[in-house]
Amino acid sequence: MEYKRIAVLASGRGSNLQSVIDGIESGYINNAKIMTVISDNREAFALERARAKGIEGLWLNPGDFASYEDYNNSIIEKLENLHIDLVVLAGYMKILSKGFVQTFQNRIINIHPSLIPSFCGVGYYGEKVHRAVLEYGVKITGATVHFVDEGADTGPIILQEAVKVYQDDTVGSLAKRVLEVEHRLLPEAVRLFCNEMLCIDGRRVYIKDGGAL
Ligand code: GAR
Repeated sequence: MEYKRIAVLASGRGSNLQSVIDGIESGYINNAKIMTVISDNREAFALERARAKGIEGLWLNPGDFASYEDYNNSIIEKLENLHIDLVVLAGYMKILSKGFVQTFQNRIINIHPSLIPSFCGVGYYGEKVHRAVLEYGVKITGATVHFVDEGADTGPIILQEAVKVYQDDTVGSLAKRVLEVEHRLLPEAVRLFCNEMLCIDGRRVYIKDGGAL
């Protein structure tokens, strides 16, 4: 099987990007290459992480485009020129345009720091998710990797794992434990995709033999 060409979109720290880079370097993800890392944020540490590994780290400023649609179209063009097989949203804080999702249908995955369909959708990102979890008082949260459709966090779920909420948790302590899970889930989802082990049937994603989690 030929290796899969990955593009990562990230807006911030990039620890999830790092988990994929590490997964490829260790051979856990055995047939993939990250072709580019794109960010809407010039200061994103994700760009530094990419460049440190000799991967292109590209800042595309939404403010430089006439519309959000144009901004998305420029990313689409870039990714098509690179013949990208898989787009990974690793802490990407923008919602993709309809055209973007349609162009890469079933080839975009996102990591979200809760058990979807709880604490997700518009306005739920990053630490806001953990704050909402604590305010609501749920006893269990977790992480989800899913395919991206035209809604916000509504696409078919690939992997999920639960994390207990402790009485003395803060946003920071909870985010840290969920992040540890994210760093296992995302490389595993990428590995499964790149080995063509994921089948989508409506809302359900089936994993062919060999899933590790
Ligand atoms: C991660 O917790 C990720 O799940 C979350 O942002 C954080 C990015 O961290 N993504 C979302 O909330 C998307 N809705 P990172 O930059 O260190 O990977």
